[in-house]
Amino acid sequence: MESLVINGGIPLFGEVEVSGSKNATLPIMAAALLTDEPCVISNVPDLSDVNFMGRILTTLGAHVEREGDMIRIHARNPRGIGDYNLVRKMRGSVCILGPLLARLKSARVSMPGGCVIGTRPINLHLKGMKALGADVSIEGGYICASTRRLRGTELFLGGRSGPTVLGTANVMMAATLAEGETVIDSAACEPEIIDLANFLNKMGARIEGAGSPTIRIKGVESLHGAEYSVIPDRIEAITYAIAAAGTGGEVTLKNLRPEHITAVIDKMREAGVSMERNNGALTIRRTGELSPVDVTTLPYAGFPTDVQAQMMVLMTLAPGISIITERIFESRFMHVNELARLGADISQEGPSAIVKGGLPLSGAEVMASDLRASAALVIAGLVASGSTKVNRIYHIDRGYERLDKKLQKIGARIKRVQENNRSD
Ligand code: EPZ
Repeated sequence: MESLVINGGIPLFGEVEVSGSKNATLPIMAAALLTDEPCVISNVPDLSDVNFMGRILTTLGAHVEREGDMIRIHARNPRGIGDYNLVRKMRGSVCILGPLLARLKSARVSMPGGCVIGTRPINLHLKGMKALGADVSIEGGYICASTRRLRGTELFLGGRSGPTVLGTANVMMAATLAEGETVIDSAACEPEIIDLANFLNKMGARIEGAGSPTIRIKGVESLHGAEYSVIPDRIEAITYAIAAAGTGGEVTLKNLRPEHITAVIDKMREAGVSMERNNGALTIRRTGELSPVDVTTLPYAGFPTDVQAQMMVLMTLAPGISIITERIFESRFMHVNELARLGADISQEGPSAIVKGGLPLSGAEVMASDLRASAALVIAGLVASGSTKVNRIYHIDRGYERLDKKLQKIGARIKRVQENNRSD
C-alpha cells in the first residue's frame, strides 16, 4: 500500500486544472448500457473508481476502451448481472440497476453494502423500480428486478435525509425507456444529475426539469449512441480551494464551474477567504486570520457533505468555536480522531462537531478511512508544521486525479511512498 508524506506549513501558489467530475462520470458510463450503439464520453478523470466502473461494464458484456480522458463504451448485447465482488466494492455501481432493467427488462445487481460514512440504504432505488412496474426482490444478497415493460408513473423519491442522487439517476435512466411519462418529485438537484440528463437527451431521451426537484421523463422506444463531455469536478475544486486558504497562499482554479459551488464560496468568504470569480476560473487568497463559521451539510444547492471534512480542517485554523453539522450521512466524522492526532481540538455532539479552532497543528502519522476524509487529512498535513504521513491513500486515488502531482505543481512538499510493510 502507498502513503503520502507531506512537509507542511508552506503556502501554495499557482494554478490547478480541475478534472472532470467523478460523480457525473459514473452514472453517465452506466447510461451507455441503455443503447446498442457506441457512446464516447470525454473529460473523464483518471480515477480508480472510473476504471472500476469500466471493469463492471466489461463484465456486463460491454466493450470499454479508454484513450486519455476519453472512454468509448459499446453495450451491444449486455448481460444483466452485476457481480457481488465488483458492486460491493464501489457503491456508485448501483446505478447500473436502472439501465439494465430498462434495456433487458431484468437485472440482478448485488446489494452494494454499507461503507464507513453510513449504512447507505437503497430503499428509494427499489421504490423507484417498483413504481415503474418492476417486480423487485432480494435474493442471496442480490437485487432481482424484472418486468414485461416499464410503465411511466409519478413518484415521490425523497428519503429521511432528503433526495437521493444515485436513486434519482437510476429512476431517470429507467424511465427513459418506460411506456408513458414519469414524474419524479423530490428529485436530487445536483449538477451531476443535470449532466446525466443532458447526456441522456443527447441519446434521444426526453427529459425536462433536471436540476429542479421535479423531473419529467417521456419514455421513448429506444436510445442511440452519443458523444458527451462531463462537467468539472466541483468537489475536487473545493478541496484545492480549501488547501489554498488553509496554507495562506494564492491559487487559481481553472476549468471549473463556479456557479456549482456558490454555497462554499459564500461560507469561505464568511470565514475571511478572498474568492474571486473570473468566468471559468476562481482565485483563492488568504492573507489575514480566519474567522470561525458554522456549517450544516444539505442537499444541493446547500453546503455539500463531500467537503464537510475538508472544511473542518480549515476551521481548526480559525480562532474560536465553529460548529459543523452533518445532515446527510450518519457517521461521516471518521476524520475527527485523526485530526486530533495532529493537535486539533474537536468534540462530537450527535450530528455536530464542535471545533475549537486556533490551536497550531503539528505533523503526525494518520490513517485515511474514506475518500473525502483522506483529502481532509492531506490538507491538514499541508497546514501542519513538520511532517505528516497519510497511510492507505488508495482511498484518495478513488476520487482525486494525480493529487500529489497537482499539489507539487503549486509548491507543496508532498511525495508518494510505499507504506513500510509493518503490520498495524
Ligand atoms: C452520491 O451518493 C455521491 N456519490 C456521494 O459522493 C454524495 O456524498 C451523495 O450523493 C450525497 O450528495 C456518487 O455520486 C457516486 P444519496 P449517493 O443517495 O447517491 C439516504 C463521494 O465522496 N438514502 O444522495 O449514494 C442516504 O443514506 C461520494 O464522492 C436513503 O435513505 O447518496 C443518505 O443519508 C460519497 N435511501 C442520503 O439519502 C436510499 O435509497 C443521501 O444519499 C438512498 C439514499
